[in-house]
Amino acid sequence: EWEMSAFIEAATEAIRERVGDHHVICGLSGGVDSSVTATLVHRAIGDRLHCVFVDNGLLRYREAAEVEDLFRDVLGVDLHTAHTAPQFLERLEGVIDPEQKRKIIGRTFIEVFAERARALGPVRFLAQGTLYPDVIESVSPVGGPSATIKSHHNVGGLPEDLEFDLVEPLRELFKDEVRLVGRELGLPSYVVDRQPFPGPGLAVRILGAVDEERLDILREADLRVREEIMKMENYLDVWQYFAVLLPVQSVGVMGDDRTYENVIAVRAVQSLDGMTADWYKLPHDVLDRISNRIINEVRGVNRVVYDISSKPPSTIEWE
Ligand code: XMP
Repeated sequence: EWEMSAFIEAATEAIRERVGDHHVICGLSGGVDSSVTATLVHRAIGDRLHCVFVDNGLLRYREAAEVEDLFRDVLGVDLHTAHTAPQFLERLEGVIDPEQKRKIIGRTFIEVFAERARALGPVRFLAQGTLYPDVIESVSPVGGPSATIKSHHNVGGLPEDLEFDLVEPLRELFKDEVRLVGRELGLPSYVVDRQPFPGPGLAVRILGAVDEERLDILREADLRVREEIMKMENYLDVWQYFAVLLPVQSVGVMGDDRTYENVIAVRAVQSLDGMTADWYKLPHDVLDRISNRIINEVRGVNRVVYDISSKPPSTIEWE
């Protein structure tokens, strides 16, 4: 794509010009926006880019390892991973209310990110994966670049001693263009074509209290949902697809024994922007394989149900 390589050249030059000899910090989430941002900035200024990745323990199967493999080992980015799963899990202990979970996770994220940012010493710039739709949505009555950080962005609300000038190389792009840029930069499909994943992660897909054991069950079930759906030729038409661990137990049989175990709900939706969504009419054979694999391969689950609700009035996530 000529257009994309021209964009990459121009963006790289613009980053160099803006940043000069300074250093840049970038929060990596594993998502496409922050991945493409980091890759572009790295291309522009190399080891003066420092990425911080907060492993909150609420990510999907092997997700944290994938981020480290790609950015540290393949791309050679200066990556600082904060292994903070215990900290997040401790604060989430016994918390059931979804909004409470979000607040705890958001607050803890900022704390951890701020701590890592300070440890890097004075850094002038922060790179963010702000896209064009974010720019036109944000109303900035007080002006100044930091006022445009939207609260849903993970780095919103950083403490005052951590004020950065922003580098936002994707500000003029739409999501599909970001994917094209990512592909042109050589990022793998599992990054570029990645489905949206909420900041609070698996915590809002475990209904009720979150703990290590339930995270393991959900991770294993979710992996099977993703694997089976990604075998479909047209899986990129499915906007989001994942497993949800319900807070109920149901009766089953295994051999001569009665079981009383967890229920997994499978969610797959079609959407353009996440604002509205239709439940995805997955082929029965795909549903069949998902169900069989989860029940046979994931310990602690004896029933799988399919969510056939659209948004509105249901939301995409269950919490
Ligand atoms: P809902 O569940 O509201 O989700 O229909 C719409 C889209 O937003 C994602 N989502 C979140 N993303 N933090 C995020 O970064 C959140 O707290 C959050 N809650 C929902 C959801 O996955 C879907 O793509």
